[in-house]
Amino acid sequence: MSHLKSLPPDIPRDKLPRHIGIIMDGNGRWAKKRGLPRFFGHRQGAITLRHMVRYCNAIGIEALTVYAFSTENWSRSEDEVSKLMKLMKKHLGNMEMYLKDNIRPQVIGDRSRLDEELQRKIALTEETFCNRTGIRFNVALNYGGRDEIVRAAKHLAKQVQEGTLRVEDIDEKRMEAEMYTASLPPVDLIIRTSGEYRTSNFLLWQSAYAEYYFTDTLWPDFNEDAMNQALRDYASRNRRFGGV
Ligand code: IPE
Ligand code: IPE
Ligand code: MG
Repeated sequence: MSHLKSLPPDIPRDKLPRHIGIIMDGNGRWAKKRGLPRFFGHRQGAITLRHMVRYCNAIGIEALTVYAFSTENWSRSEDEVSKLMKLMKKHLGNMEMYLKDNIRPQVIGDRSRLDEELQRKIALTEETFCNRTGIRFNVALNYGGRDEIVRAAKHLAKQVQEGTLRVEDIDEKRMEAEMYTASLPPVDLIIRTSGEYRTSNFLLWQSAYAEYYFTDTLWPDFNEDAMNQALRDYASRNRRFGGV
């Protein structure tokens, strides 16, 4: 347990989010600032992610969902998309990375559009670590919040059509169960890096009552201190859920 990290004493453990979402943005700008091709930013961003999932696991966060590739990101250059996919393969295929930690990796999103090799690697990684009891680490890949909701609607409609579900029985709980995150605790905190203030189609259903935290830090520069800052900010919020 060489990388076991403890929570700074000024962050109360009972005020930690159970489930954190991260929109890891700013890789391209990080590279550009250094006069490097965009890919260098993605590569550095992957290193940051590795540190962050370990840190969140060590301090006892139950689930972490990170936005790695959106349904809209296919509109980038073929070169960038293919390099990003290669990077995913490298990381998802790198079991070593998870072996030492009690992390349970999983991919959410529409994998049918991913190439076969990547789909295989994802399935193998999920299977290998499915009994892990540490942090639930979800990588959102070809993920879109709208796509997720459409998919849920279609699945419910199909059951109605087949006569196994009544329209009257469709409620929020039933919808919730159709989401990729169904078995996870509610998303408490969503962090977006790089100074952009939008959701970009991330966890639309799940974010109804999440707290947002925005920072100008570019994702490759994000670190434990930056995470602690977000956790401190979150701990100070008064979540009312519509009450008083
Ligand atoms: C986020 O960084 C990573 C992905 C969307 C894959 P960007 O690539 O969006 O970086 P910027 O926003 O161009 O700086
Ligand atoms: C959101 O970032 C997607 C990921 C972080 C994977 P983008 O860079 O794609 O979002 P926009 O284009 O700024 O909205
Ligand atoms: Mg971006």
